[in-house]
Amino acid sequence: MTEKKNSNTMWGGRFGSGPATIMEQINASVDFDWQLYAHDIAGSRAHAEMLVVQGIISAEDGTRIAEGLNTILAEIENGTFEFSRSLEDIHMNIEARLATLIGDAAGRLHTARSRNDQVATDFKLYVRAAIDRIDALLADYQSALADKAVKFAGTVMPGFTHLQSAQPVTFGHHCLAYVEMAARDRGRFQDARKRLNESPLGAAALAGTSFPIDRDMTATALGFDRPAANSLDAVADRDFVLESLAAASITAIHLSRYAEELVLWSTPQFGFIRLSDQFSTGSSIMPQKRNPDAAELVRAKTGRIAGALTSLMIVMKGLPLAYSKDMQEDKEPAFDAFANIELALKAMTGMVTDLEPDVKAMKRAAGAGFATATDLADWIVRVLGKPFREAHHITGELVAMAEGLNLPLHRLTIEDMQSIEPAITDDIFSVLTVASSVKSRASLGGTAPANVRKQAKKWQTKLAREAAKRN
Ligand code: ARG
Repeated sequence: MTEKKNSNTMWGGRFGSGPATIMEQINASVDFDWQLYAHDIAGSRAHAEMLVVQGIISAEDGTRIAEGLNTILAEIENGTFEFSRSLEDIHMNIEARLATLIGDAAGRLHTARSRNDQVATDFKLYVRAAIDRIDALLADYQSALADKAVKFAGTVMPGFTHLQSAQPVTFGHHCLAYVEMAARDRGRFQDARKRLNESPLGAAALAGTSFPIDRDMTATALGFDRPAANSLDAVADRDFVLESLAAASITAIHLSRYAEELVLWSTPQFGFIRLSDQFSTGSSIMPQKRNPDAAELVRAKTGRIAGALTSLMIVMKGLPLAYSKDMQEDKEPAFDAFANIELALKAMTGMVTDLEPDVKAMKRAAGAGFATATDLADWIVRVLGKPFREAHHITGELVAMAEGLNLPLHRLTIEDMQSIEPAITDDIFSVLTVASSVKSRASLGGTAPANVRKQAKKWQTKLAREAAKRN
């Protein structure tokens, strides 16, 4: 291990100790990349076993290395391991400790390997584990939404466009919209995982190695599908992180949109839902307040998660092949983004599970704003055989009349209606309630309660089957 000598000889003689401290400060990554320790040790184990099988190191050295790595793993996990900044990163911290523990054999572990393929391998294992956790959390979120959708399949609420009442929908339908988004989010993570799952180990510094290594063996041992085909590419690219961060950013955007709705809906002005005490906070000065802090924070997390993606895109964009130290800047934003998307998902699942819709308030609002005007126009088309454009015009006049009289559409009299379109009959009233409106929208993917119930149950079954497989 030459760490101390490195930092001191580079700066020490000419600049004194000040710059050496700064050099160490800018260069060292162990303050954050220690989090890779378990993956680093797994990678080293696989590498050492392969070196033994290939006759590159002796079986005795292999055993000593394995035992030493076990000791180090235990030390890190029980908090007795001493990390040193002068050893730069997690890889050299572990290797230095291994040398203290087992002597010379430690130096053989790094045969046919470089920190460049090592760090790419460790980080892939880290991101892969994060993807698997996020997938399970997305599934939990979907389950919470699907359960709500079954329960409230027939609960009408206003559907909005431009945040203006558009047509009545059901709360269950709204929940299922987010289930679909989460399904695509999971798909994006799975796609990223598939492409990520090639092992960089054995690419060495950039060009491969002259030792007779078996890259298939280490790839299999670490759960990769195959070794990465090009050694330069294997150590030089971080698209697996970018892609996963892109998936995380889109997920965060989806969570943020729902969080925004929860914030709006929980205001006294909307009054559509009540968030549980567990996910609300009070105000220290205004006793009446129940603030939706968790939803607001989920909404805000999008900033740092999308920020991590932007940050790494900019780090990567001008880098010549192969490894450059710039790439050490890949970790902190990514660690932060994955930790926070996990937290946001847990918070959203908790909020969805606990929230209570105010069914009456939703229904009242669903009928406001002439939300069944489209149903009226559709009736004119269907029953009177008029072209939709004309029906739209007639309906517009009826809406203006109702507005003038300060009445909802279904409170107009038949005489009122006939003064604008003489052919209208009493039958029109059958389509003007919100209940009949949602019930009529039974087209595929539409908001009809029977549709919603069926879809929600389908999701419940699918998610339960998946969960059983996971456990
Ligand atoms: N700490 C480094 C990183 O995170 C490890 C790789 C260093 N490789 C090198 N040749 N300096 O990128």
